[in-house]
Amino acid sequence: MANVAVIGAQWGDEGKGKVVDWLASRADVVVRFQGGHNAGHTLVVGNQTYKLSLLPSGLVRGKLGIIGNGVVVDPDALLAEIARVQAQGLTVTPDTLRIADNATLILPLHGAIDRAREAARGAARIGTTGRGIGPAYEDKVARRAIRACDLAEPDTLSRKLDELLLHHNTLLRGLGAETFEKQALLDGLLATAPRLLPFVEPVWERLDGLRRQGRRILFEGAQAVMLDVDHGTYPFVTSSNTVAATAASGAGVGPSAVGFVLGIAKAYTTRVGSGPFPTELTDDVGRMLGERGHEFGTVTGRPRRCGWFDAAMVRQAVKVGGVQGLALTKLDVLDGMQTLRICTGYEVGGTRIGHLPAAPGAQAAARPVYEDVEGWRGSTRGARSWAQLPAQAIKYVRRIEELVEAPVTLLSTSPERDDTIMVRDPFQD
Ligand code: GDP
Ligand code: IMO
Ligand code: MG
Repeated sequence: MANVAVIGAQWGDEGKGKVVDWLASRADVVVRFQGGHNAGHTLVVGNQTYKLSLLPSGLVRGKLGIIGNGVVVDPDALLAEIARVQAQGLTVTPDTLRIADNATLILPLHGAIDRAREAARGAARIGTTGRGIGPAYEDKVARRAIRACDLAEPDTLSRKLDELLLHHNTLLRGLGAETFEKQALLDGLLATAPRLLPFVEPVWERLDGLRRQGRRILFEGAQAVMLDVDHGTYPFVTSSNTVAATAASGAGVGPSAVGFVLGIAKAYTTRVGSGPFPTELTDDVGRMLGERGHEFGTVTGRPRRCGWFDAAMVRQAVKVGGVQGLALTKLDVLDGMQTLRICTGYEVGGTRIGHLPAAPGAQAAARPVYEDVEGWRGSTRGARSWAQLPAQAIKYVRRIEELVEAPVTLLSTSPERDDTIMVRDPFQD
């Protein structure tokens, strides 16, 4: 298989950015296929730290980056991110970045609706990133979205803004939020157009050409399976499909082009935002994981909720996400802990089940069933081969493989790019 798709197997922030950056040395092009600037990927290369939201992580290695049609693109956020990474010494030009002409745009009103809705939800809020991701995807499905290609047609923009504002200003007024003026939005889009359009093209055609030349494509997922709008802990999810199947529809290639599906999972669990989290630890252990793992959202800076590794949930993500191999990250955060716990299933109303149920009531009621595993004394931090791992750490990894029913393909032992153990090359699988 020539290509690889990387997806999150938990609730996001598993270290996808680090793994994509590492794998990008073996790829020719890196493609984002869903999500938007709700994603936050931290890459550590020597003494430089890059924080990417919309830009494909392969850009750090100078690989061609493609933003596929399945991504929702906030032009202002993208241009600001380009300026930020350029200040760090990276070059982003139409030679290194292409954006699908049929990608949906996020406008300022989407963020406003997102935030007004969250405020109206009160305690029942989803805990979104407030960046307009959900409302932009809603507009796409409702067939009124402005897309990247529309920037070249001022008349189309004007007509579409009329329809958008009819819908959104009504909603904003109902929510007691400020409404938007058409002219200001139109002026903003027309001012952005000349800066964005040089990047815009039918990327499906470029990808087809690259495939015919035998180039290796790395598909970079954002968020994770448990945040998938169908398969996640609905309604506490993001508004796109995050499973590997989306790599095909979100980039404009056929399903057979997706290749090997690599699921990324932390050696424990985190979640940012609201929603069920059966293995969450609100005690000192949870706080310790958060401190040692530096568990703060890349995008919002919110502290991430922390808990034990949930093998039942990752097994479910493996099945619905089509995961063929696992990259296990942050093993080093567990160094020195005496006993570790792995969730192997749940009890709901006295019944033992092996998966997270779909209904919100049952999800909230699910209590984890644990298996205890002995921890290890030595350090895994910075290990670059199995031989450097304590025997008990290897046992922990092997037990996870058994429970989630997927082999560990990569192991990450620090934020640094090269502190990675490759068990099998996913591009060779
Ligand atoms: P993503 O959204 O999946 O790309 O993940 P984030 O970048 O949001 O969060 C993962 C965090 O963990 C980042 O700060 C990474 O630098 C860091 N990280 C990645 N892999 C490892 C690892 O193996 N060990 C440690 N300690 N940190 C890691
Ligand atoms: P990466 O790619 C972790 C969460 C939000 C919220 C829910 C919906 O860095 O793993 P949204 O703004 O998407 O409508 O918010 O999804 N969320 C993430 N959590 N990592 C992410 O991305 C996330 N992107 C969205 O916290 O609970
Ligand atoms: Mg992240």
